[in-house]
Amino acid sequence: MKKIFIVVSLFMLLRTDFAQPYPLIQNIQGRKTISLNGDWRIIIDPYETGFVNYRLDEDQNGFFKNAKPKNKSDRIEYDFDKSEILKVPGDWNSQQEKLFLYEGTVWYKKSFNYNKKNNTRLYIYFGAVNYEAIVYINGEKLGEHIGGFTPFNFEITNKVKEGENFIIVKVDNKRLRNGVPTLNTDWWNYGGITRDVNLIEVPQTFTRDYFIQLAKKSKYVIIAWVQLDGSNLSQNVNIRIPEAGIDETVKTNDKGYTAFKIKSKLTLWSPENPKLYDVTIASSNDTVNDKIGFRNIETKGTKIFLNGKEIFLRGICIHEEAPIRSGRAYSKEDAQTLLGWAKELGCNFVRLAHYPHNVNMIRQAEEMGILVWSEIPVYWTILWDDEKVFANASNQLNENITRDKNRAPVILWSVGNETPRSIPRTKFMKKLVDQARDMDSTRLITAATEIHYINSKTIMIDDPLGKYLDVLGCNEYIGWYDGLPAKADSIIWKSDYDKPIVFSELGGGAKYGLHADSLTIWSEEFQANFYKHQINMIKKIAFLQGMTPWILMDFRSPRRVLPGIQDFYNRKGLFSDKGERKKAFYVLQTYYNLLK
Ligand code: GCU
Repeated sequence: MKKIFIVVSLFMLLRTDFAQPYPLIQNIQGRKTISLNGDWRIIIDPYETGFVNYRLDEDQNGFFKNAKPKNKSDRIEYDFDKSEILKVPGDWNSQQEKLFLYEGTVWYKKSFNYNKKNNTRLYIYFGAVNYEAIVYINGEKLGEHIGGFTPFNFEITNKVKEGENFIIVKVDNKRLRNGVPTLNTDWWNYGGITRDVNLIEVPQTFTRDYFIQLAKKSKYVIIAWVQLDGSNLSQNVNIRIPEAGIDETVKTNDKGYTAFKIKSKLTLWSPENPKLYDVTIASSNDTVNDKIGFRNIETKGTKIFLNGKEIFLRGICIHEEAPIRSGRAYSKEDAQTLLGWAKELGCNFVRLAHYPHNVNMIRQAEEMGILVWSEIPVYWTILWDDEKVFANASNQLNENITRDKNRAPVILWSVGNETPRSIPRTKFMKKLVDQARDMDSTRLITAATEIHYINSKTIMIDDPLGKYLDVLGCNEYIGWYDGLPAKADSIIWKSDYDKPIVFSELGGGAKYGLHADSLTIWSEEFQANFYKHQINMIKKIAFLQGMTPWILMDFRSPRRVLPGIQDFYNRKGLFSDKGERKKAFYVLQTYYNLLK
C-alpha cells in the first residue's frame, strides 16, 4: 500500500486560511503547456498596501482585485496596466538597479486569453517563486506556496473564464527567522518569479505522477508506480519503453494507484554513456512521454558504486547564478554554460548548492552525463524545535524529490548544510532522512556536515547525524578559514563511520587578475597554492570517495563587502563571475584529468 507522506497534515499547521498547492504534476516537459513567461506588470509594495489595510487586517479589496475606476469619481489608487514591467522568469534584483537590494513584496500581474475545452482540466504551474507566493486568478485567491526553489501548481479548471483572465501573484522575499533558509545565507536573496510559469492542459483523468527507476542494487529490475488523478481512477495503464522491448499493461486500483516491477536488459546511464530511453505512459485518455536513464547507485563500506563499478566523484559546487549576466540562472543555456565549465574542469559530478536548482540544470546534467547532489536549504541555524519550520523543510524535500525522482543524474538527496550539532537538530534532520528514504528507495541520502579536531593535527569525522546518512559530506577550509594552505600537508583524517566521505566544500578566494606571490591573500597564486596543498592532503585519505570544491564561479553574496576584491561577490570561484579562468582552475583540472 503506497503511503501518502505526512507532509499534508503538517502543512495545515502553517496556514489554514489558504488553499495549499495541488499535489505536484510530474514531468510537465512531457505535457501540453501554454507558457505565461514574458512581460508581467508589477507593483512594488514595501508596506503591503495592496494586502493589508491601515489596521493590518487582510484587505478583501486588495491589489489582487486588479480594480479599475468605474467612473470619473471612482478612487482606485493603483493600476497594474500603467505600472512597470519585469521579465518572468527572472529575479527582480538584477533587472532594476533600485531593486538590487530590495527585500519585500512585489505584486505581479499577467493577463491571458483562454478558450475552454471540453473534458480538459487546467493547471497553473510555477517552476519557483522566491520566497512566499500568494496566487490569485481573476480576483480570487488560489492559494499560497512557501519556499523559493521548488515547483508548485494549482488547478484552475473551474476558475478560468472563456476569453480574458488575469493571474496575480503577491511575491515576498523577506527573510524570516522561522524561514527555510533563515535570516543569514552566504548567497543573494534574489526575489521574484524566478522560473518558468506554464498553464498545463490535461484530460479529465490523467497520469499526475509516476516513478520509474531501477531498483536499488539491481541492473535489470525496474520498480515503478503510477498515480492517476480524476474521475476514472481504476483503469489499465500501458508503459512502453520500445528500445528495451518493454510494453507492459497494469491496472490501477480505485485510488488510481498501481505499483509494479518490470525485468529488462538495459544500457545503464553513466557519465561516460548518458543513455536515455523514450518512455510512454498511456491511460485511456492521457499519454505522457519522458526520457529516462536507468542506473543504480550504492555504497559498500567507504566506497560508492555506480552500476556496480567503484566511482570517485570528481565534483564542483555550483550556485544557481547566471554566468556573465549574474542574477538567478534559469535557462537551458545557463545550465549548458555552467555544466560545460564543470565538464571542462574534468568533473563527473556537481553539488547544486544549497537549494534545488531549476529543472534545466537537472535535464542538462542528464544529457551531458553529470551526476548530481541535490539539496534543500536547511542551511546553518534554522529553528529546529518549530513544527512549522519542519513542515516547511519537509515540504521542500517533498517537492524536490517529487520533481526529480525520475532523473538519472541525481544520486544524492542532501537534507542540509553546516547545521550545528544538537539533539533537536539531529532529530529534525533524521526525520528528513527518513522521509527521503520513504519517498525514494533507490538513491543515497547525505548532508554537508562540519568537522572538528581531536588534536592539533587530527580531524575526526563523527557528526551524530552521520549514523543516519549513506554518505557523509564534510566541509573543510584548511588553509583558508583554518590556517595557511601548507597546513593541509600535515593533517590526519579519521572517521567514525564505515561509510563514504565526500568533501562537500573546500576552497579559498581570489580576485581574477590579481597576481602576487603565493602567500598574498586574494591573489590567484594564493588560491592555486591552496589547491596544491589540498590535493596533496586528499591523495592520502583512503576513505575519501569524492569532492566538490567551493565553488565553480564567483557568486553574489551580501556578506562579502571587501572593497576592490569582493564588492558583494564571494570570490572562491575557479571562474570569475565573467567566466574568466583563475590559475587554480588549471590546478584542479590537472588533478581531475589524472583521476580519469
Ligand atoms: C560555507 C557555506 C557556503 C559559503 C562558504 C564560504 O561553508 O556552506 O555557503 O559560501 O562556506 O564561506 O565561502
